[in-house]
Amino acid sequence: MGRMDLPEPELLSGPGSLKKLPALIQSKGVRSVLLVSDKGITGIGLIDPLVQALDKAGIDCTVFDDVQPNPTIANIDSGVEIYRANQCDGIIAFGGGSPMDCAKVINARIGNPKKTVIQMQGGMKVSGPLSPLFAVPTTAGTGSECSLGAMVSDPESHEKFGVASPYLVPPYAILDAELMIGLPPHITSSTGMDALTHAVESYIGNWASDYTNLHAEQAVEIILRDLEATYLDGTDVDRRQNLAMASHHAGLAFTRAMVGYVHAISHNLGGLYGVPHGLANAVILPFVLDFCRQDCEAQLAKLAVIGGIGRDNEPTETLSLRFIDKVREMNRNMDIPTGIAQLRASDIPNLAKRALAEAHPQYPVPRLMKQSECEAILRKLLTITG
Ligand SMILES: NC(=O)c1ccc[n+]([C@@H]2O[C@H](COP(=O)([O-])OP(=O)(O)OC[C@H]3O[C@@H](n4cnc5c(N)ncnc54)[C@H](O)[C@@H]3O)[C@@H](O)[C@H]2O)c1
Ligand SMILES: [Fe+2]
Repeated sequence: MGRMDLPEPELLSGPGSLKKLPALIQSKGVRSVLLVSDKGITGIGLIDPLVQALDKAGIDCTVFDDVQPNPTIANIDSGVEIYRANQCDGIIAFGGGSPMDCAKVINARIGNPKKTVIQMQGGMKVSGPLSPLFAVPTTAGTGSECSLGAMVSDPESHEKFGVASPYLVPPYAILDAELMIGLPPHITSSTGMDALTHAVESYIGNWASDYTNLHAEQAVEIILRDLEATYLDGTDVDRRQNLAMASHHAGLAFTRAMVGYVHAISHNLGGLYGVPHGLANAVILPFVLDFCRQDCEAQLAKLAVIGGIGRDNEPTETLSLRFIDKVREMNRNMDIPTGIAQLRASDIPNLAKRALAEAHPQYPVPRLMKQSECEAILRKLLTITG
C-alpha cells in the first residue's frame, strides 16, 4: 500500500524542547505562522511563552483557538480564512489531536484551494507539497504529529470521517513533556489508552511489519509501566516524556499498519454523541480483544510479556487472556467506565452498520466482524455502566 514509504517527522524531543521551535521556524524561512489551538489550552496560558519567543524572533503569529473537540468542517474553514487574511506561510499545530488534525486539514485546504473539506474525504485526495507545519502535541495519545490522517466531524450528518495523505504527515514535531504536566488525570488516562489502542490494533492487524511491531512494542512497554502512575501523579516530567514518546511510537506504527474495530466503533460514537475519542477507545478495547483473541493469541501473548505481566514460557492462551485482563484493570484503576453512558439501544443497528462500513475493507483486522457481532458488542456497552 506504499505506507512503509511514509515520511517521518523531524523531531525535537525532551523537556523544554519547545524553546528551540522559533529558531527551527526561522531556519525554514517561515515569517508568519498561524498557531492553531483550542480554548482549553490558550485559557491556561500554555502558548504564552511560545508566542513571546516568536515575537522576539521576529516571526508574526496569529492565534486561532476556536477548534472544538472532534474538530468540525466549519472550524477548518474559519482557520483557512484567518490564514489567508494574515498572509501566513506556515502553521503551528498546538494541542491534542483536535487542534493538530484541524491544523493539518487547514494546511491541506490552503495547498488544494479548489477542494472543500468534504471533497478531501478518504485517501489520497490531498496533493502537495504543503506549507511547513510544526506539530506540538500537548496530549500523549493520538500520534497525529506523525500520522498521515486527520479526523473531521460533520455536525450535519453526525458522522466523523478521515482525510489521509502522505502530505499530511507533519514534517516537524516537538515532543516536550513540560507542556503535559498540567494535563488533567482523566485526559491523561483516556489519551494514554488511545495510544495503547493504536499500538495494539496495529500489532494484531494483518499489515503489521517488523518496523511497526518494534514501535508498537515500545509503546506498550511504556504505557503499561507509566500510565497509571502518571494518572495518579502527573508531575513527573520524565514519565510524561516517556508517554509522549510512547504515543509517538504508537503513531508511527498505526499510520502504517492501520487501526481496527475499536477505532471504527469509537469514531462513530464520537460522531453521533461526541464521546471523547480516547475514552471511547478505552471502553471498547477489551470487548474487541475478547472478540478476536483467538485469532491474535500469539501477538497478545507477546505484548503481555513485553508489558511485564508474564513470562514467555507460559501458554499463549493464558498470556493473551491476561493482557485483556490488564487492559480492564488499567481502566478500572483510572476510573474509566465499562460502558458508554450516552449510548441508546435504538441507535445500535445504525452505529454497527456505520462502524463496519468504515472498517471494511480498509482496516486489516485479524477477524472479520458481522453486523450481529458488532451489535452484540455495542449492547454490552449499553448494559454495563460504571
Ligand atoms: N490524526 C490522527 O492520527 C488521530 C489519531 C487518533 C485520534 N485523533 C483525533 O484526535 C482527537 C482527540 O484528540 P485528544 O484525545 O488529544 O483530545 P483533544 O485534542 O480533543 O483535547 C481534549 C481536551 O484536553 C485539553 N488539553 C489538551 N492538552 C492539554 C494540556 N497540556 N493541558 C491541559 N489541557 C489540555 C484540551 O483543551 C481539550 O479540552 C479526536 O478528534 C480524534 O478523532 C486523530
Ligand atoms: Fe485513536
